[in-house]
Amino acid sequence: MAKSGPSFTCTECGAVHKKWTGRCDGCGAWNSIVEEAPLTAGPASKTLGPARGRQIELTTLATKEVPPPRASSGLGELDRVLGGGLVPASAILVGGDPGIGKSTLLLQAAASFARQGLSCLYVSGEEASAQVRMRAQRLGLADAPVQLAAETSLRDILTTLDTVRPDLAIIDSIQTMWSDNVDSAPGSVAQVRAACHELVSFAKKRGTSVILVGHVTKEGQIAGPRVVEHMVDTVLYFEGERGHQFRILRAVKNRFGPADEIGVFEMTGAGLAEVANPSALFLSDRGQASPGSAVFAGIEGTRPVLTEIQALVSPSPLGTPRRTVVGLDSGRISTILAVLEARCGIPFAGLDVFLNVAGGMRSTEPAADLAVAAALLSAREDVALPPDMVIFGEISLSGALRPVGQSENRLKEAEKLGFSQAIAPERSKITGGGGMRVRKMPDLITFVGDMFAAG
Ligand code: TYD
Ligand code: MG
Repeated sequence: MAKSGPSFTCTECGAVHKKWTGRCDGCGAWNSIVEEAPLTAGPASKTLGPARGRQIELTTLATKEVPPPRASSGLGELDRVLGGGLVPASAILVGGDPGIGKSTLLLQAAASFARQGLSCLYVSGEEASAQVRMRAQRLGLADAPVQLAAETSLRDILTTLDTVRPDLAIIDSIQTMWSDNVDSAPGSVAQVRAACHELVSFAKKRGTSVILVGHVTKEGQIAGPRVVEHMVDTVLYFEGERGHQFRILRAVKNRFGPADEIGVFEMTGAGLAEVANPSALFLSDRGQASPGSAVFAGIEGTRPVLTEIQALVSPSPLGTPRRTVVGLDSGRISTILAVLEARCGIPFAGLDVFLNVAGGMRSTEPAADLAVAAALLSAREDVALPPDMVIFGEISLSGALRPVGQSENRLKEAEKLGFSQAIAPERSKITGGGGMRVRKMPDLITFVGDMFAAG
């Protein structure tokens, strides 16, 4: 066998290169190539005979152990996103833009867990201890039995963790941690990956839960391109619009609970406050019925959430009219505009379109299609929709309306918030509908004719 030197592998696409380059030829990613040691040419590389290795113990899928008790944080919204509380020995990554409130959230969580009797260690690599203490003071958390350290040396942190053995360790942030085993700057892909690997291994070995804070890059990924996401059990994103006080903690991956679950918080002068009824909050500043506004009855994770979709349509001075979309998928908006034009004969050419989900909420459900179309039409025709109406349904390319899941839950939430009528796709599974008057529509044309006949 020819002696092989080290190889260079792209961490994004796995392409193998003969030498290191700044950019991968395979996928075009920058700074993604790492050196890998050659396979050792020991006897094992010649053959893997049955005599080598030891017999692995095999078990069945039936479980004898009871699931470990989850620790409640005392913050209902956080527990919900974690899938019902903190699982011992789990590794959690909390990502988000700088300044969105990650440190605030986790300091509150640490204090809350500590007050519930868990031993908590909060390691800040970004702020001095005095800064963290000051924040704790301001948030009224100074009396919580949280152990605090300002440190970036991974070796010292691991040694300390091994001695203290806390139930929960919070590392703020993973990008500031630095391992002397790795020969590159803190924050580099190699450092972030090494630090994450060490901390997650520690968690699994010693039964300590770790929460890692990660900053998000411009492309919306947690720096250390995705390498960290697959190492941890749970990935949470903390998001929100900078100008809004709402913050949404969203589970995008969770080995111990449903993904897509959200927790809603409000950033106040005294830290983050839980919002137990997000629908009421998102709709609270809705004024009189005005053209361009439609209320969408959505589902976020396991609970229904009502949001207001706002549209503005105005003649465009530009050759290519603007399509400005906040909080919705702009690809879907293009599709809805195309369906309105092709199937209903309502053109948006020459018109600027602005769409927004009120309150800084983000909605990715296809079920929002019909509410978006309603808001667009209402804005275009300058006709307000009835203020007590909620709308949901997916629009297919043919212009037909497709039923969406959990129709009854959507209606129940709407009724609870004082709405009395709903528009839903024809084949929606609705029995009764409670006190709501539900009008079922087969396709978009029927909807347009029904709602905007005069226009
Ligand atoms: P921070 O938790 O430091 O953000 P991150 O760790 O994600 O970078 O939050 C900083 C912002 O939160 C800052 O702009 C001020 C605001 N804030 C409040 O509005 N109220 C508060 O009680 C606190 C502690 C912060
Ligand atoms: Mg911070």
